[in-house]
Amino acid sequence: MENTIISPFEFAAKHSATGTTIFAVMSALAAQHNAINLSQGFPDFHIDEQLSRLLGEAAREGHNQYAPMPGLPALRQAIAANFKSRYGVDIDADKEITVTPGATYAIYTAFTAILQPGDEVVVLEPAYDSYIPNIEMNGAIAVPVSLSAPGFEVDWNKVKDAITPRTRAIIINTPHNPTGAIWSKEDWDQLADVVRGTKIVVLADEVYEQLVFDGQRHYSVLEHPELRERSFALYSFGKVFNITGWKIGYCIAPPAFTQAFRRIHQFVSFTVNTPAQYALAMHLGNDTATPVHLVMQQKRDHFLSLLKDTPFTIFQPAKGSYFQIAGYERISGLPDMEFAEWLTKEIGVATIPVSAFYKNKKDDKLIRFCFAKKEETLNEAVSRLKKLG
Ligand SMILES: Cc1ncc(COP(=O)(O)O)c(C=O)c1O
Repeated sequence: MENTIISPFEFAAKHSATGTTIFAVMSALAAQHNAINLSQGFPDFHIDEQLSRLLGEAAREGHNQYAPMPGLPALRQAIAANFKSRYGVDIDADKEITVTPGATYAIYTAFTAILQPGDEVVVLEPAYDSYIPNIEMNGAIAVPVSLSAPGFEVDWNKVKDAITPRTRAIIINTPHNPTGAIWSKEDWDQLADVVRGTKIVVLADEVYEQLVFDGQRHYSVLEHPELRERSFALYSFGKVFNITGWKIGYCIAPPAFTQAFRRIHQFVSFTVNTPAQYALAMHLGNDTATPVHLVMQQKRDHFLSLLKDTPFTIFQPAKGSYFQIAGYERISGLPDMEFAEWLTKEIGVATIPVSAFYKNKKDDKLIRFCFAKKEETLNEAVSRLKKLG
């Protein structure tokens, strides 16, 4: 973890998270020890040829200046058409879609648009590690509610107990990082029951919406007419087209919500890099590659079949996302952070300790593997893990 640099300028902390984000820490440790990096959630394989060609073309053909603040109209229209064909929902490309520099930015911007100091936000934990700092940067208070291991379902009574007159929002993530759990239609109905009659806003982080396995499907908040009226839905092209380094995503929200969102966005980023928007506008709807969920399911299955020859415990296969949770109780009694460091340094495989996804660093002795990797990367990682016994 990062040491605080003392300065006479004394910058007061804007949030409670100390040090550098775990993803940067573990990736740096992996590089330092030449470990196979199954920690941070990014694919290590080539992207679709058509998409990279379109990006080059966009730059060569002169699409290099500022795009309109809400995003290129062609991209927003392509997103709307894509959601119509996949979910059957009507989205107004002008009034309801804003292209953003990634989903993390969109989450921060949505929080900033709606939160006032002292507001409370319910966060289901384990949670993607930007949520709580983003809430706190706005002077608001995160109210964590634990999901129930090992299936990581929502305990709705706990959610109800966490709601107070100061609750302004709840943030949902399905498919879920780090657990790979997915929400059913009934989960959304339960949420609707909880928020009905309140002014609670829903942030639905659906960045892994296209990564659902075993013939199941993602239920989007946009398909729930009652919840859609009070929701920001947040997406990332990074997770759909294996382009996490492009940092491009979008926010879909009702017109009044989108207006509030853009009030912040226009003064923070204003717009998003044009060649990427152009390439994605051309690519969406003309994508002939194997669907990403089939590619990732095959990787998950391959990884799980290899892991059988190691002492890790798999409580259940990931239902979606890039991630597989595993227990290491048959290997070590170390706290998960120490175990993950040891595994990186001594065995040469980097993972993420699940305690990093809890505000109070709750340690259930679980680690998260990212299986969005080439087969040879997964093979090499597990050949190292087999040394564990
Ligand atoms: C749950 C979740 N939300 C958001 C993001 C970030 O998406 P982006 O790279 O588009 O900012 C991630 C990335 O790992 C994620 O796991």
